[in-house]
Amino acid sequence: MNTTVTAKAHTNIALVKYWGKKDPQLMLPQNGSISLTLDHFYTETSVTFDDQLAHDQIYFNDQLLQPAKAQRISQFLDLIRQRSGQTHFARVTTGNHVPTSAGLASSASGFAALAAAGSRAAGMHLDLTDLSRLARRGSGSATRSIFGGFVEWHAGHDDQSSYAEVLQDPVDWDVQMIAVVLKATKKPISSTDGMARVVATSPYYPAWVQTANHDLDRMRHAIAAKDLHALGMIAETNAMRMHALNLSADPAFNYFTADTLTAIQAVTDLRANGVNCYYTLDAGPNVKIICAGHDTAVIKAALAKHFAPEQLIVAKPGPGITITEA
Ligand code: DP6
Repeated sequence: MNTTVTAKAHTNIALVKYWGKKDPQLMLPQNGSISLTLDHFYTETSVTFDDQLAHDQIYFNDQLLQPAKAQRISQFLDLIRQRSGQTHFARVTTGNHVPTSAGLASSASGFAALAAAGSRAAGMHLDLTDLSRLARRGSGSATRSIFGGFVEWHAGHDDQSSYAEVLQDPVDWDVQMIAVVLKATKKPISSTDGMARVVATSPYYPAWVQTANHDLDRMRHAIAAKDLHALGMIAETNAMRMHALNLSADPAFNYFTADTLTAIQAVTDLRANGVNCYYTLDAGPNVKIICAGHDTAVIKAALAKHFAPEQLIVAKPGPGITITEA
């Protein structure tokens, strides 16, 4: 009997960003990062190792992935096979529960769910810290999606020392995010390639690492103090510095669209009018607004001047992974 294991992992949004590797092979980041796991967006993945298969079969939202796209997942399964002694190929079915075309489907929830389901289906019983280390090898941001609430990924200096842990979960105070889902455009450059270019060419990179470490200290305090204003200001500045690295790379690139700047301006205007809200952005055009739940109505009303209601998705702090065996 082949065991099928299913895991569910939620996506996370970094408040202090990971943007650069010091070891691409081991996926060790240049600096630590802090994120909030979200309830609204998640990936569910089932894995079965099967001696009847001649290669890995990977289904993504019910579609069989072509070999080129399946390669990164197969390489990750190779790592699991190597560590577990499992010799068979696997059938992987993945469903991304993200509103259609939201562009928020991230490799974070994907590789966290795959690490959990894949390792257990291969017969390994890893604890959450080991799962976090394993998920890191698939995608850096997945390191944090093993856990719920506020999470810190310690940069570390080798495989053992680079993992995430919970800073605060459950999150028992009023902090939410509104995802402003903008028109999907072709990404100018993937996260993996964008951060590599920045490390190699931005003259500001050393300053980024220095300020990110300072941001980590301040962000830990803001979270412990449940201080939305401090948390939001640190997150906003940190995000803009990450994007400034992209603008200072050679050749330069950026993920902004005209709508991105409209959303940023709307948040800035709301704050000038006394609403406690802040923005952050990852490697794409979407803007995420950090705010208190009791302000979401007024923020959505202001953004309704520019965006349709279905473009504004409210998310709350979300849980860590769950694993079920069938
Ligand atoms: C901007 O985790 O997608 O979202 O490790 O190369 O797979 P790889 O990159 P990825 O990069 C995420 C970058 C970010 C910031 C963050 O999540 O910390």
